[in-house]
Amino acid sequence: MPLSGRPPAGLPARVRVVEVGPRDGLQNEPGKIDTATRVALIERLAAAGLRMIESGAFVSPKWVPQMADTAEVLARVRRTPGVRYPVLVPNRQGFDAALQVQQQRGVPIEEIAVFSAASETFSQKNTHCTIAEGLARFAEVARLALEQGWRVRGYVSVAFGCPYEGAVAVDRVHTVTRALLDMGCYEVSIGDTTGVATAGAVRRVYERLCATIPPQQLAGHFHDTWGQATANALAMLEFGVPALDASVAGLGGCPYSPGATGNVATEDIVYLLHGLGIETGIDLDALIDAGAFIGDALGRPGASRVANARRAQRARERELAAHRPAGTGAWRA
Ligand code: HMG
Ligand code: MG
Repeated sequence: MPLSGRPPAGLPARVRVVEVGPRDGLQNEPGKIDTATRVALIERLAAAGLRMIESGAFVSPKWVPQMADTAEVLARVRRTPGVRYPVLVPNRQGFDAALQVQQQRGVPIEEIAVFSAASETFSQKNTHCTIAEGLARFAEVARLALEQGWRVRGYVSVAFGCPYEGAVAVDRVHTVTRALLDMGCYEVSIGDTTGVATAGAVRRVYERLCATIPPQQLAGHFHDTWGQATANALAMLEFGVPALDASVAGLGGCPYSPGATGNVATEDIVYLLHGLGIETGIDLDALIDAGAFIGDALGRPGASRVANARRAQRARERELAAHRPAGTGAWRA
């Protein structure tokens, strides 16, 4: 499906879509997805044109068992040149595990992600420490990672509302974002973990952030729980922020955010971006097929409205083609 014209003034001409399905999506599945399926999903996403695919997490297997085979996944994925496969690292132990995979199995790590939060209760539930303690751990991890020549990306979870504390102060989001940038993150993704944000809330948060932070150092991570995620993504793009996280087939949620549904579906984000004339380098049909692959593996249809609509459209196109006599352009009755 072609791009629709040029992007409106003020919107980025190209957006980097960060695929988080194999990590953020699959971490929330009640059952464990086998390693081969996760590897095949990552390879299909790379083939569809995704250039950043968050592929796992070196976190405690006691808390998030779905990510326990991250080392194996990284070792098995056939690498596509130009694609980065970042992993989540919560502390020194996670950093050591990532380094071990690189040193002992010859798997290049290249990029990791650290994750803080804009509410104390969420920080405690997610990482068993205060925001300040978490930031101190991440500062050490970031320093060690940068010494290895790895890139470090940051997240601020629950930036638009906390499942335990409710409203979150915009200044808190700014303070945590600043701290992550100061420790060397090249970009910080602002997470609507519970999916409660509206376009108005997104404007307020990015207005505050962009007053002191270049938009090129920010990204957006929207969940679709309240059905606002694509509107929220557009509200963010209006600030010139050029990176968006999304999860194929709308997989996921967060184990520490009860009731939150999946991340916005990558298919929905790509359709939005291409409709605005914004380049992504992604083949929407191949992406939809990757979503169907993981939907089949999980035994349920994906949550992407775009994928469902496009699949129905493709089925109609096939049916029409089957009834058209070859070479005549005429329809068979
Ligand atoms: P802890 O249990 O609080 O602390 O872990 P600990 O350091 O005292 O360690 C206790 C046990 O955990 C020990 O094992 C450690 O070895 C082990 P035991 O002696 O009991 O057998 N351990 C580890 N094992 C493997 N890898 C590690 C590691 N660290 C300790 N790195 C910790 C603290 C943060 C690690 C833990 O609480 C944890 O893993 N939490 C899960 C965090 C997580 O993955 N959350 C979901 C991702 S965040 C998210 O989804 C939001 C985001 O997508 C943005 C958004 O949606 O908005 C990013
Ligand atoms: Mg998320």
